[in-house]
Order: sequence, then C-alpha cells, then structure tokens
Amino acid sequence: MSNLQIIEGDVLEQLPHIPSESVDLIIADPPYNLGKEYGNNYDLKEFDEYLRFSTLWLTEACRILKPTGTIYVFMGFRFISYLYDILDRELQMFFNSWICWHYTQGMGKTKGFSPRHDDILMFTKGKTFKFNLDNIRVPQKYYRERNNMRGANPGDVWQFSHVHYCNGNRRNHPTQKPEGLIERMIFASSDEEDLVLDLFAGSGTTLRVCQQLNRNCTGIELNPGYVKMIKERLNSEFTGFDSIDPRMERIPLDLNTKKVRQEYFENHKQWFLNQHAPLIDKFEESVQKLYGEEQTEIQEEFDFDNTTRK
Ligand SMILES: C[S@@+](CC[C@H](N)C(=O)[O-])C[C@H]1O[C@@H](n2cnc3c(N)ncnc32)[C@H](O)[C@@H]1O
Repeated sequence: MSNLQIIEGDVLEQLPHIPSESVDLIIADPPYNLGKEYGNNYDLKEFDEYLRFSTLWLTEACRILKPTGTIYVFMGFRFISYLYDILDRELQMFFNSWICWHYTQGMGKTKGFSPRHDDILMFTKGKTFKFNLDNIRVPQKYYRERNNMRGANPGDVWQFSHVHYCNGNRRNHPTQKPEGLIERMIFASSDEEDLVLDLFAGSGTTLRVCQQLNRNCTGIELNPGYVKMIKERLNSEFTGFDSIDPRMERIPLDLNTKKVRQEYFENHKQWFLNQHAPLIDKFEESVQKLYGEEQTEIQEEFDFDNTTRK
C-alpha cells in the first residue's frame, strides 16, 4: 500500500522541510502566470517576480531530488524558455526531453493558430537515472519480425484529451490534468515504493495515480478547498484511469496466425490496458471487427484448453 501525504501550504515555505536527496521523482505543474483563478490564489505576478518564484522552487526541487532523480515541469509558452535556462545553466541539470502534450480541444483564435498543446520539460539530476521504457511502450501498427511486439517508444508528442466536464472523474478544478499522462511519467521514471513529489497538487491527479501504481507520494497545495477535494478523490472508488493515449487501443494489422493472435491479444490487455479496465470490452469488440469470425474459434480453442486443464 502506498503512503500518501498532502501538505497544505505554500511550496516555498514547505520545501525547506524536505530533506536533501530524498525524492525519486518530482512532478511540477505550477500556475503558468496567465491570470487563472485558483480560489484563494490568483495566478498573476510581475514578470520578474514570477521568475524569482520559479527560480526559488526549482532550486529547492533540485536539492531534494536524489542523484538518480527526474523532474517533469509543465509550462506555458511565455515562460518555458526561462525555466529551461534555469534548469540547464543555473542548476546544471541534464536535459532529457521536451514533451509536447497535444490535445484536440481548446480555446479558439480567429487571428492566429488556436493553441493545441502544452509543453513539459523533463530533466534529470545526474547522467544516471531511471527510465523504464518497457512500462510505457505503445502498441505497434504492424506485426513484423523486426518490430518489438512489446511495443514502441511513445515519442515526445503525447496525445491525451482533457478530462471533460461529463467525465465522472472531473473535479471542480480549472486545470486538472489527465491521469493517463501522469501515469506515463510515473511508470517511466519511478519504481514501486519510490517517493514521488507533486509540488502543485491541484485536484490530486499525481496522488491518485501513485495510489493506484503503488508509489509513495507527497503533494503540496496552497488552497485548503483543493486539499479537501484531493482527500475525497483518494477515497473514491477507482474504476480505471480517466484518459489514455489513443494508440493504446490500436491493434496491429497482420497478426497472421491464430497462435500469434491469441498470444498477442492477451499480452495487449496486460501491457497496454492495465489500469484501464473499462476499455477492455471496446478492445475486444475492435478485435472482433478486425479479425472477424475466426476470433470465436480462437476463444473456443482457449476455453477448451482451460477446461482440459481443470
Ligand atoms: C496548474 S494547477 C495543478 C493542477 C494539477 N496538476 C491537477 O492535475 O489537478 C496549480 C496548483 O498550484 C496551486 N498553487 C499556486 N501557488 C502555489 C504555491 N505557492 N504553493 C503551493 N501550491 C500553489 C494552485 O492552487 C493550483 O491548484
């Protein structure tokens, strides 16, 4: 069982209490300084003041990370280059990836291009760090000898839809992030029982994902209303993460023999749809559509094997 802790308070006051080199993974989704309303705090500072704030929490984050630790930082276009510079030149951390989180719905512009992505910087504290590629692969399009059927590297453009207001997991928070997106970071850059820290916990997405993936997690959040919201979220029933990379539902073409298909379909559910139980029925329907009647035979063959084993 994971150990989950929520600290109510200001990140700048709380971080000095956390011991140096004690955290495996940090996820930071700070206010982007765009004038959003977060209940008891308003997200608009003078340019220099916002940079000072960012430098202070990033410096503390670097101090508390283990030498093998990783940080992911969400940021909007206005400040991302400055945050990159702080991580790279001031803190001498190691750049790993500039991830583009692509979504299909958002604000519309009539003069200019409607924004459809946020950026996420991934830096590591040292040259040696955890990266569990096998836990975050996405299904291949084709079954080929040369392809690794465990899946492909997901790349640095990640598509996840926002958690829509009609989604049962949607909380009353203006910038709730999709669980599937946080799931990928946690799988990639931590192991079970590691300590994950979310510096701006918001509606508690990171804590929720850690709860399900057996990681210990501490979240810091300034707004007591959101702290209450997080506690309720952690106590609510889990029915699967609220979002998924659409490629996880992709079924490779050319699974040409029954044996290959049977093995592949069972693996697919285990590798790509674990924690997304409600999608398994949809996956099975798609298999049926794509590979047709033969699936019934495979299923029968499989049931028969099970019966004989009993
Ligand atoms: C972008 S939101 C995080 C959303 C979160 N990732 C989620 O999925 O719900 C930023 C959060 O940081 C909180 N916050 C703002 N300033 C803070 C500070 N100085 N210390 C701690 N939390 C702060 C806000 O109340 C807000 O909930």
